[in-house]
Amino acid sequence: MAEMSPMGPRPGDERPVLTDRQGHPIQDNQNQRTVGARGPATLENYHFIEKISHFDRERIPERVVHARGITAFGYFEATGRLGDEPISRYTRAKPFAEPGKRTEVAVRFSTVIGGRDSSEAARDPRGFAVKFYTEDGNWDLVGNNLAVFFIRDAIKFPDVIHSLKPDPVTFRQDPGRIFDFMSQTPESMHMLVNLFSPRGIPAGYRHMQGFGVNTYRWVNAAGETHLVKYHWLPEQGVRSMTEADAAVVQAGDVGHATRDLREAIERGDHPAWRLMVQIMTDGEHPELDFDPLDDTKVWPEDRFPPRLAGRMVLDRNVRNFFADSEQIAFGTGVLIDGLDFSDDKMLVGRTFSYSDTQRYRVGPNYLQLPVNSPKNAEVRTNQRDGFMAYDQGDAGESPHVNYEPSILGGPREAPAPPHEEQGPLIVGRLTRRRVPRTDDYTQAGQRYLLMERWERDDLVHNLAEALRQCARPVRDRMVWHLLMAENDLGLRVGDAIGISPEDVIHLPPLPGQTLTREDKDRM
Ligand code: HEM
Repeated sequence: MAEMSPMGPRPGDERPVLTDRQGHPIQDNQNQRTVGARGPATLENYHFIEKISHFDRERIPERVVHARGITAFGYFEATGRLGDEPISRYTRAKPFAEPGKRTEVAVRFSTVIGGRDSSEAARDPRGFAVKFYTEDGNWDLVGNNLAVFFIRDAIKFPDVIHSLKPDPVTFRQDPGRIFDFMSQTPESMHMLVNLFSPRGIPAGYRHMQGFGVNTYRWVNAAGETHLVKYHWLPEQGVRSMTEADAAVVQAGDVGHATRDLREAIERGDHPAWRLMVQIMTDGEHPELDFDPLDDTKVWPEDRFPPRLAGRMVLDRNVRNFFADSEQIAFGTGVLIDGLDFSDDKMLVGRTFSYSDTQRYRVGPNYLQLPVNSPKNAEVRTNQRDGFMAYDQGDAGESPHVNYEPSILGGPREAPAPPHEEQGPLIVGRLTRRRVPRTDDYTQAGQRYLLMERWERDDLVHNLAEALRQCARPVRDRMVWHLLMAENDLGLRVGDAIGISPEDVIHLPPLPGQTLTREDKDRM
């Protein structure tokens, strides 16, 4: 019987020809090479083996958190001022320096707990990570849509995430496990009051706020430091969903937020956010009833008014999801001159964690990928080789010198800033202790009281629904915490799940828990 011939191009088809990754034109993409039409395959079939073996390696590990997300590109435009003051009084960072100055940005929005293809209508914090491609190198501001976090020390992060992730046996997200952990973690109450309110399910990425959450430092030209918190406010307004709304949305599309963002940008309806900053003098601030380095707290706006530092517009979608959204890598350690860390114990842990996971998730040369490389600053590093090394930096005149110092050539150190940094002097013993002013309840209660009536009703309903699925000791302890945060909240949730204040009044504080005078009065 005659051999079948490859299909080949249709007459008149002028499209470019398919090749393999070695540049060889592919004449038959439909049939592998076999001995006769029905015979065994041959091992030297390079095209077939390349195609299948590359396919076998298509997936990289998804992010351990924030696996589902979408990137968009745009620009940040600075005000150059904070109200009637020049911003240079507080920071010498170049993206903020001049009114109207634009810096290119990439932003990745995400959900946290679900896997890469999970629902975008889940009750979950949302990630809001911004990469600024500045002339001083990249700056990442890696935030969330809620202003605070569950914990204040990075050592607890794997535990809080394990409690929120699916059960290791049943692979179900289980309120019984979540509230087991949270009931033993009183600092989580402020976050829970936010997360179980309608803000826990944003209507979409365009309609949510973004918060840096952690406290950072700004450094001015004289080396003086201030503490700073960042907030993004959507010009589109904040919109949230109840669980009933979310159920309808996700019945039709589990990726509604990605679709909404892409379509808005596509039709020229470019979403924009204002960047507001709160500034505090750099120090412990003993006059406050919370620690400025505690990320379970917000800074009261009447004492630390948010001030406009710039505006961000997103006007371009990704050209390829994998290249720009899966491989993009953010980290809290990615700062530029004029911006610095604080001693916030979460921030320190995060700063190690991000690049550590990215070396594993994407590979040791993840910073050479176009979306991650500092496109507006030159890279001249002596770091070399590793898997998938592509761009070794510009070796310039001295390709032999990949070390420093050298009198033969190679890049030199940059001049130091004219002034030493003048942050506070910190002296102390090595220890493992909580920050002294924990005050776990005041701001959680205040947040509840600030909500509109329908938001409070929704919060009570959502907490009660979740707590109904928990063991009795967990429910009791949660009602105890909620009563401490705000009487009305504790009474209403308790009432909904059949637990009265008398049922829980005998509970002692948790081991190691510090109560404020007001907490003790409430007991
Ligand atoms: C992603 C760790 C707290 C916001 C991640 C990833 C890790 C991580 C390992 C995956 C990164 C990747 O694979 O590229 C931690 C640790 C934390 C912490 C150890 C606490 C100690 C927070 C907080 C926020 C936050 C408080 C919000 C302010 C984000 C965002 C992403 C992320 C937005 C996704 C970034 C992207 O879109 O690629 N985090 N995280 N994380 N985290 Fe955290």
